[in-house]
Amino acid sequence: MTRNTVPTLHGDIMTTNTPGTDPAPNPHATEEQVKAALEDTKLAQVLYHDWEAETYDDKWSISYDERCIDYARGRFDAIVPDAKLPYERAMELGCGTGFFLLNLMQSGVAKKGSVTDLSPGMVKVALRNAENLGLDVDGRVADAEKIPYEDNTFDLVVGHAVLHHIPDVELSLREVLRVLKPGGRFVFAGEPSTIGDFYARWLSRATWYATTNLTRLAPLNDWRRPQEELDESSRAAALEAVVDIHTFDPDDLAGIARKAGAAKVETATEEFAAAMLGWPVRTFEAAVPPEKLGWGWARFAFGGWKRLSWLDEKVLRKVVPPKFFYNVMVTGTKPAA
Ligand SMILES: C[S@@+](CC[C@H](N)C(=O)[O-])C[C@H]1O[C@@H](n2cnc3c(N)ncnc32)[C@H](O)[C@@H]1O
Repeated sequence: MTRNTVPTLHGDIMTTNTPGTDPAPNPHATEEQVKAALEDTKLAQVLYHDWEAETYDDKWSISYDERCIDYARGRFDAIVPDAKLPYERAMELGCGTGFFLLNLMQSGVAKKGSVTDLSPGMVKVALRNAENLGLDVDGRVADAEKIPYEDNTFDLVVGHAVLHHIPDVELSLREVLRVLKPGGRFVFAGEPSTIGDFYARWLSRATWYATTNLTRLAPLNDWRRPQEELDESSRAAALEAVVDIHTFDPDDLAGIARKAGAAKVETATEEFAAAMLGWPVRTFEAAVPPEKLGWGWARFAFGGWKRLSWLDEKVLRKVVPPKFFYNVMVTGTKPAA
């Protein structure tokens, strides 16, 4: 059995090699642990994502209904339009609460799934979500740089918004190819492009600054979140800076995948105008009390994102270079034996 190393909440490394011995979630990190995590990106991943796990679906408006099934399937089809479905056995790296794989499975992409994540809290929530949906899914706490599965196990490996957190992306893709069967495919979506990340961060910072200052004014005071909640968000943002390690130029990412040994590598990008709306919207939602934003806001946010995504695909794609779009996707296959 392949062995897997996972950083514990005390900053040292523990070894797990048997299903059922995965470490338990720790949603309440101490100040000492947070301090240690500022120097240790994998410890930061575990603390940050264990802390977020139970509220993650709400925070990112993740659901397991038609809206997110269509979104997940849309990302998959955008990079592998001609896949022969369903895959027999699929695995997700950095699954979080299971958004990508569970919704892909609901859309008919794979029959059996395995969810994996460095954060025990995330694996627990992903398995609970899978059980509620009646899907055939097992799960492991796993570091993407040392995947605890045998060689040639899976037909498909997927990931969403995970590669940019992994210190050695090439090593991780080598691991992905090791656990894929010959001819098997990987699909990673939702990675930040280097240019996209630059404008998204500036738009988010400006929105946070404007919202948290304007809501100090008396007439807007009831739109201000309690100071301790804003402070907690700022602490989370400090950890976020430690966990977000990379941004990608699409051609560089394709190069890393080829160097890891992948065949038939392709990349695609999406969301330009849509990202310019999406990031300020998400930041605004985090800066004001959630009860202030009703269905009208949700309709505006989702409707606006859909309309701008249409504009991106039908118009801007023809004039804006791919590397200016925010989301990068990459796919490739394990060469046949
Ligand atoms: C931004 S979240 C995305 C979660 C989910 N894929 C989604 O799209 O909602 C990144 C996830 O990757 C996990 N992660 C970070 N580094 C990892 C690593 N080295 N190995 C496995 N998972 C990792 C985190 O714990 C977290 O759950």
